[in-house]
Formats: sequence, structure tokens, C-alpha cells
Amino acid sequence: MPAPTSRGAEFWNGTMGHSWISQQAVISDVFTAVTALSLDAAAPKPGEHVIDVGCGTGDTMLAFGKIVGPSGAVLGVDVSAPMLGYARDRSADAGLGNVSFALADATTYGFELRWADLVYSRFGVMFFDDAVKAFANIRSGMKESGRLVFVCFRTLPESPWFHVPIEAARPHVPPPLPADPTAPGMFSLAQKDRLHGILAEAGFRKIVLKETDVPIHGKDIAQSMAFITQAGPLPALLEKASDEQRERATEAVRNALAAKIGADGSSLHVGLWLVSASAS
Ligand SMILES: C[S@@+](CC[C@H](N)C(=O)[O-])C[C@H]1O[C@@H](n2cnc3c(N)ncnc32)[C@H](O)[C@@H]1O
Repeated sequence: MPAPTSRGAEFWNGTMGHSWISQQAVISDVFTAVTALSLDAAAPKPGEHVIDVGCGTGDTMLAFGKIVGPSGAVLGVDVSAPMLGYARDRSADAGLGNVSFALADATTYGFELRWADLVYSRFGVMFFDDAVKAFANIRSGMKESGRLVFVCFRTLPESPWFHVPIEAARPHVPPPLPADPTAPGMFSLAQKDRLHGILAEAGFRKIVLKETDVPIHGKDIAQSMAFITQAGPLPALLEKASDEQRERATEAVRNALAAKIGADGSSLHVGLWLVSASAS
């Protein structure tokens, strides 16, 4: 299947996709609490059909594959060929025979109608060019009794894990171009009313948006720096900088994180919407 060709797909098939692969173990560690909380809310059961939207390198897909077992099935949908390939390899290594993969944009993918008991996403639903169209298409793949559970970010200042590094780097790098906060990107679903409206217009019911702050546990400064310089909003800010500016900014980020992070790697958090809804 050829990789989708939207701007978002280009982004996730390029440097960012490869960073998520090289940092997979770090990202998985850092998001431990997010994963636990969102899987708990999703409550997958043996025998269920699950769709993982924007499954990336497969962290949560693997968890679903193990829980739903041989009588269940998991479909991972993602626009990134390298990330999906990585997820496929991990599933094979884990001996999971109940997972399948679609290299596709979830906005237009031809989901098998009324198939899924559960649609889940860990940070994979904020990048749609047309969010209403995407969520309506995803809903078409859900049973009437199906449930949607995902996590997405609230605004940048509500996530000190990302905001502290950005503020530390900002004086050392060229200012970012003004951007539309609702444009596809990690904070596109941050506004509560807008997010609720998108889901309602896509046909979802019983929509609950739970404001949730989740502690982030980098093991140490080195792990936190590996994450923060390669995932989230900082890489885009550093990209426009000269080598010298980037070095100064990176040093400032390291100092800012060191001042905030406890000996156990904790103390910063991300501000999320823990979203649940039903297909009908
Ligand atoms: C922030 S990453 C999260 C990956 C994974 N869920 C995780 O938590 O490790 C976002 C993912 O969404 C995927 N993605 C972006 N736009 C998409 C779209 N329109 N359809 C399907 N997947 C998409 C990206 O390729 C990427 O894997």
C-alpha cells in the first residue's frame, strides 16, 4: 500500500517518524502513566475488536493484542510507513497473530463497517486536516455499541513538560511564525468546546472530556532530553536555529529541566483531555 501523501503524512514519514522510532523505548517509558490511565479508561476485554488510530510504533497496539487475545482482533491505522513497519515488526516479535495494519489516513480509510467495539488513540487524532470528516469516518467502523477513548493535549502552557523547555529555548532561537492554534498539530484539539463540537458533529454521543494532568517520569535528565529534543513542539523551534543557537538553546533547556525534575525524574506533567464517547 503506498504511503498517504498529505502534509501531515509527509511529516510523519520524514524526520519525526524516524525520531519516534529511534526514541521508542524512551517515549514508551515517559508515557507510562498516560498509557496506564488511558488503557484503564478504554477497558479492553478478551474477544473485542479494537482500532488504534495513529498507532505509531505500536506501544498500545501490543497491549491491546495481548488483552483481546486470539478471539479478538486489533487494527492499527497510521499514515507513517516507517512507524507502522516498526509496529508490525514488534507485533511479530511478540508472536501476536491477531493484529493487522493499515497504512492510511484515518480520514478516508475504508473501515469495515460497524466492526469495532473500541476505538482508541494515544495522541494520534490531532493531526487531521478535516477533523469532523475523520471522526465521522472512524465512527463508521464502530458498532452501534462501540466506544471511543483517546487522549490529546490541552494547551501548551497546561503541559509544563513541553512548556518549560519551549520557554527556556525561546530567547536563543528565531521566533516561530504565528500559527493557527486549531491547525492540524499536537494542540489542535486543546479547546474544549471545539473538541466537543467536532465529536458531536461527527455523530458521537455521551461525550465526556475529562481534564486530566498526568505526571511525566523521565528516568533522568538524559532520558528527558532525548525525548524533549526529538518529540513534541521543541524540534520545530530548534529546526530554524543555527548550530550555535541550537547549542545555546539546548543547554538552556537542560538547565531548566534540571531545575524542575526530581531525583526520580518526576515533577513535570502534561495536561490532557481524556476523552470518551459512544458511537450512538
Ligand atoms: C504523536 S504520534 C503518536 C503515536 C502513537 N499513538 C504513540 O502514542 O506512540 C501521532 C501518530 O499519528 C499518526 N497520524 C498522523 N496523522 C494521521 C492520520 N491522518 N491518520 C492516521 N494516522 C495519523 C502519525 O503517523 C503518528 O504515528
